[in-house]
Amino acid sequence: MSTTTVPFWVAGKPVTSEQTAVVRHSFDDSEAGVHFVPSSSDIETAVQAAHDVAEEFATLPAHVRASALDHVSRTLGERSEELARLITAESGKPLKWARGEVGRAVSTFRWAAEEARRFSGELQRLDTDPGGTGRLALVRRVPRGPVLGITPFNFPLNLVAHKVAPAIAVGAPIVLKPAPATPLTALALGEILAETDLPAGSWSILPTDNEAAAALVADPRLPVVSFTGSVPVGWGIRDSVPRKHVALELGGNAAVLVCPDWTDLDFAAQRIATFAMYQAGQSCISVQRVYAHADVFDALQEKVLEQVRALGTGDPRADGVDVGPLINTAAAARVESWVSDAVAAGGSLLAGGARDGATVEPTVLTDVPEDASVMAEEVFGPVVSLTRVSSVDEGVRLINASRFGLQAGVFTRDLPTAFDVSARLAVGGVLVGDVPSFRADQMPYGGVKDSGVGREGPASAMADFTEERVTVLTGLTL
Ligand code: SIN
Repeated sequence: MSTTTVPFWVAGKPVTSEQTAVVRHSFDDSEAGVHFVPSSSDIETAVQAAHDVAEEFATLPAHVRASALDHVSRTLGERSEELARLITAESGKPLKWARGEVGRAVSTFRWAAEEARRFSGELQRLDTDPGGTGRLALVRRVPRGPVLGITPFNFPLNLVAHKVAPAIAVGAPIVLKPAPATPLTALALGEILAETDLPAGSWSILPTDNEAAAALVADPRLPVVSFTGSVPVGWGIRDSVPRKHVALELGGNAAVLVCPDWTDLDFAAQRIATFAMYQAGQSCISVQRVYAHADVFDALQEKVLEQVRALGTGDPRADGVDVGPLINTAAAARVESWVSDAVAAGGSLLAGGARDGATVEPTVLTDVPEDASVMAEEVFGPVVSLTRVSSVDEGVRLINASRFGLQAGVFTRDLPTAFDVSARLAVGGVLVGDVPSFRADQMPYGGVKDSGVGREGPASAMADFTEERVTVLTGLTL
């Protein structure tokens, strides 16, 4: 890895400073990179520039914004291997998942370019009552103002893309604060944004600490806050600025329901094992709870164990490694202690459970009480708990008992069951015939209950970053 200290980005320009920070690889503590840290005056410059350019940016022709987004999409594709290695270096995510993440970011920016071109608004006729004769309303969406994007460590590129791309698509300046553990990929994205014709001030990338973020959240020049990260921090932000528009993509304890009609247990087991353990479980939609009907439970459990034991754990930089380290040793120690608590509460450990530094063995539990942390809280580690249920209704009830509701998966081939269960599950998205971990980047994505508020996906976030503006035309023949 290069030892060059990388600049941060203020109003589209690379900036250096007095202070630097080292980013470390969580697998072996090696240096992943060094970056400059913005001072409070750099942060002020970025925020004021976003404020000053807001009007110009909102009226920039769509082709300029769309071309910039297309350029980013294309260039991410051209630099994909370099960026995947950077994601792995700073997050510990196995290379194959990092490559997948870059491919997704290519799609996120491409979709935002396409949506920018068709973001036109609607016409509404007003002559439906005598007072509106000859009148027509143009209903367009205009940016609410500059966006503060705050992103987590688990997708250092694509969750950044989900803030930056829709903001550019609607012409809303964005000030991005990437996760302190994984700022390098976001800073590399800055290099690509700097190659575009976007106006100075329309974007800044500030790798600051969380204290500086609190001041940004409070700053009235950033009326929109789009946050992805932990539940208490997210709701704390929303409570602290009730007059701002705050979108929250928070955590979950995603569940799978395996119905008695599902016969392809090999497929279900393979999907469950893979997506309970991918990125060491550090995804808000990784499989955490599995409720399987008693008719299929024993066979499914056997197959999940086979699949989990086949996963390769190790250095995420090596090809073929499935499960790497967590983001740091403290996170791994917490996961280890939650597993011990689950066993102490009566759960049975079927696989894994051990920890080596920041790496936790892929872990399978069963018979865990519903109120144990590995069931009721977000584990964010490679741990899955299997529970036998006696009916589909019981499965739905247990899934809904959670305080979270991001996505859920239902293995059934029975169409009425699929519709019934999707109608009753209190989540933002239901995957039929698959685990909850699937996300296509153009889909509306977000949660209910403690999992957040608002939806991402370029079209959804573009709606979220804007508000309706009505222009009424009069004296028309309609
Ligand atoms: C998340 O962890 O919320 C993002 C999941 C994804 O984009 O696949």
